[in-house]
Amino acid sequence: MLGHLLHLEGIDSVIVENRSRDYVIERVRAGVLEHGTVDLMVKAGVGDRLLREGMRHSGIHLAFRGRRHRIDFEELTGHSITIYGQNEVVKDLIAARAATGRPLYFEADGVAVSESRMRFRWNEEEHDVACDFIAGCDGFHGISRPSIPTSHLRVYDRDYPFAWLGILAEAAPSSDELVYSLHERGFALFSMRSPAITRLYLQCAPDEALHRWPDERVWEELMTRLANADGWRPNTGPILQKGVTGMRSFVAEPMRWGRLFLAGDAAHIVPPTGAKGLNLAMADVSVLSRALAAYYRDNRQDLLDEYSDRCLARVWRAQRFSWWMTSMLHRASDGNEFDYRRQIAELEYVTSSRAAMTSLAENYVGLPLENAFGVTN
Ligand code: DHB
Repeated sequence: MLGHLLHLEGIDSVIVENRSRDYVIERVRAGVLEHGTVDLMVKAGVGDRLLREGMRHSGIHLAFRGRRHRIDFEELTGHSITIYGQNEVVKDLIAARAATGRPLYFEADGVAVSESRMRFRWNEEEHDVACDFIAGCDGFHGISRPSIPTSHLRVYDRDYPFAWLGILAEAAPSSDELVYSLHERGFALFSMRSPAITRLYLQCAPDEALHRWPDERVWEELMTRLANADGWRPNTGPILQKGVTGMRSFVAEPMRWGRLFLAGDAAHIVPPTGAKGLNLAMADVSVLSRALAAYYRDNRQDLLDEYSDRCLARVWRAQRFSWWMTSMLHRASDGNEFDYRRQIAELEYVTSSRAAMTSLAENYVGLPLENAFGVTN
């Protein structure tokens, strides 16, 4: 996305990826886009398929004690969310990049960055690129953040005593909207990817061994945690993919070291409850593209200097929201019956008070996003 926003400003960039094109296109990851993310993609000219195939949702359900309670985002905030797989976003951005003819290297290895150079090996050739700026958009396990002297970074983090077991099933979604559920046996989430594909998650142990979860056990547990008193339950079908997602809250500050700028998971991670990860990465690169454009167009440094603080303000709000959603909806191994009753009381409050519902809704649909094309709110 950053490469595309820079292209629109006439700024050259070289994109280096260590995975293959097929890997990044096929690996199923997040799926919820905030309205600001959709707006950014559309205005950047990469939103055609998203507008055609994305599934617009005007609310979500919170389920507990066997009942679903709807939170109407559209009515409370005037905004909706869009279900569209992160890998579909990536596919569209790769196509847009290819159409510009600008460099994009897949399966690069030996990637190393310093403040002003990027070295990598591709197709047995050694590349050494002199850079005005480097954007570390290479995720939590990438090489960018560890290239910054530790004395320059302050890290804040928290681990959770659980993870998500995610499955993709060939089954028509049985609800038009997502269902986040707290059950005595733990969290479960009903989501989707298309009119034919259901996406489901179950709270599990952080070190969960997948072989302990044959398909029958996955369905049995999903039904136990999601089936409602009104008869609602997910449709079943062949399981296409199964995987475990870890849970962590993490922020590294500042998001800049000289000419190296960190964006997305390279600088911060949120637990997945609340679906903020991809959207935060989009917000970061939107701020960064604007700062770089001001530098090249008007020789301005101020927006580059403000980059880290501007991003972190949004990041910390999303950290708070993701932590809160996670704490409300999961059963912690160190929790007890008091905690469970308190969580139920919280869910009762969130699904009955208009003030509480609005607070959840405005964070979920996304706080105002300043992007290269203006501000959405
Ligand atoms: C999905 C993922 C999330 O983390 C979430 O909160 C909602 C939906 C999904 O993959 O569909």
